[in-house]
Amino acid sequence: IPIERIRNFSIIAHVDHGKSTLADRLLEFTGAIKENSGQSQILDKLQVEKERGITVKAQSVSLLYNFKGDDYLLNLIDTPGHVDFSSEVCRSLFACQGVILLVDANDGVQAQTVANFFLAFGKDLTIVPVINKIDLKNADPDRVTKQLQFLFDIEPQEVLRISAKLGKGIESVLEAIIERLPCPKVDREAPFRALIFDSWYDKYRGALSLIYVQDGDISVGDEIQSCHTKKVYEIKTVSLLRPQEVAANKLNAGQIGLIGCNMRSSKEAFIGDTIHKSSCIVEALQGFEPPRPMVFAGVYPSDQSQHISLRSAIEKLTLNDSAVSVDVDSSPALGQGWRLGFLGLLHLEVFSQRLQQEYGAEPILTAPSVTYKIKLKPTKQNLKTGEQLIYVNNPALFPDHLLIEEAFEPMVIGTIITPDEYLGPVISLCMERRGIQRSAKNIDNDRVMLQYDLPLCEIIVDFHDTLKTISSGYASFDYEDNGYQSSNLVKLVILLNGVAVEELSNIVHITKAQTVGRKMVLKLRDIIPRQMVQIAVQAVSNGKVLARENIKPYRKDVTAKLYGGDVTRRMKLLAQQAAGKKKMRMVANISLPKETFIDVLKK
Ligand code: GTP
Repeated sequence: IPIERIRNFSIIAHVDHGKSTLADRLLEFTGAIKENSGQSQILDKLQVEKERGITVKAQSVSLLYNFKGDDYLLNLIDTPGHVDFSSEVCRSLFACQGVILLVDANDGVQAQTVANFFLAFGKDLTIVPVINKIDLKNADPDRVTKQLQFLFDIEPQEVLRISAKLGKGIESVLEAIIERLPCPKVDREAPFRALIFDSWYDKYRGALSLIYVQDGDISVGDEIQSCHTKKVYEIKTVSLLRPQEVAANKLNAGQIGLIGCNMRSSKEAFIGDTIHKSSCIVEALQGFEPPRPMVFAGVYPSDQSQHISLRSAIEKLTLNDSAVSVDVDSSPALGQGWRLGFLGLLHLEVFSQRLQQEYGAEPILTAPSVTYKIKLKPTKQNLKTGEQLIYVNNPALFPDHLLIEEAFEPMVIGTIITPDEYLGPVISLCMERRGIQRSAKNIDNDRVMLQYDLPLCEIIVDFHDTLKTISSGYASFDYEDNGYQSSNLVKLVILLNGVAVEELSNIVHITKAQTVGRKMVLKLRDIIPRQMVQIAVQAVSNGKVLARENIKPYRKDVTAKLYGGDVTRRMKLLAQQAAGKKKMRMVANISLPKETFIDVLKK
């Protein structure tokens, strides 16, 4: 198919606005899948995605469509809708010349619609605005059209109105893609050059890479080289996704396809990398930037006997998700484990859910933290080594306040869209999370768009849930990374009878140290079982005690509830108690059951 008859596009939408449904309809309409074949939401492959109804890994599909007598090749590139995966969205958009901006006729423009629009707009892509779900009783497409006009300067006559569910207006979408989108700007005569924009692991063939061919062509047997690693591979398979894999002889410039070349893990198939023929050197297509984890959590087996199986599960999952960073970690209470880094909170949740569902692992996850940047006070040592600036993502490793010259925390710009009746509580929530308002504007009669500068650490623990609760589910939220900002951070340490328990350390803003310290102490008082000795629980920061509670001594008599003299029963219970004690961690002669740590460390 000539370049002029190729269109590469993507659908971008807020969660649940109907992206997968529209993709299914496009597949049916072009005959890639049979209608009502029960293969609903064919692009959402993974079980987690099905359950949560979100798209995690970008998948793509090549469609053939006959329009006014000519065959067109339409490549639909499925992008993850959520902010956590915005680097994946960016990569996928590189292969597109246009996007379908899908908006729910009832919900209207939401936070992710705004974020996605500006991402596509910034890349100079053609935007086809489409209002979906016009069949809904409360659909108000006129109002959504006005929002699009007001926020994005979109002309009302450009806006399509469809119902993906009922299959209404699908043809108009295909027509708009062909007529409004330009064909890819590529060169078939130039030396081969392609961008890897997704990759996944196949048990039999190793890592497979989804590529967008910018220049030249590629066939089985060609030798390719990675710009990033400089490694050379022989192409073993070339195929198109329709949506099943169909072997192809060759991929030409402008096309999207899957290649296999015996890469052993997806860590070799770097998303964002440029590949070329090893015989001629080319310029990389994009500055290659490995994904940067933003949110970190400790992952431990619930029992050390599961250590090996958990390790193998983590290894298998990271084969398919090179955005997760893995470091070995250990804690006296929880044993050997890992510290994993994720692109965002949703990424973390999806990962842990997949660990459970796909590998049956039941790990303990600690509360998430972010990466702090710390400038240490100059010493002879660190001036010489140049290690005055350090990054810390584990609160236990946060240096003593006397050593710190300045601390910085990661910031984001958050966008919230809410009906104005919830404006008060939404603003209070942002202030409580140390947010500073950037702007507030009405996007129509009763909806407001707010932008806040927020510390990342304040939104990674139940910000989204709280926002949904206080707005009866109507407010939406999205954020983008906004670098580091100097901040008055302190390390909150928990002492039991004067001895610090590192696992329970926490980094907090100075204004919150008191409240958080108080809360932790009260919680610990309630969950630490009474012991033979009195226990003093203290929260301390910068050498000052912020809160203190005592736990009175007491011997827990597990046999107290038993009447009479059933000796065997009694012995059994005492034995159980003794076995339980083995799992304890001793701190200052106090034995703490593992559950205490789990309770405190979990969100
Ligand atoms: P993510 O993958 O989470 O981004 O969601 P999505 O945008 O892919 O949404 P999806 O296609 O899963 O649709 C979300 C819900 O909206 C589903 O329950 C669909 O059945 C429903 N839906 C999609 N299109 C329409 C439509 O035209 N009309 C109505 N009434 N419902 C629709």
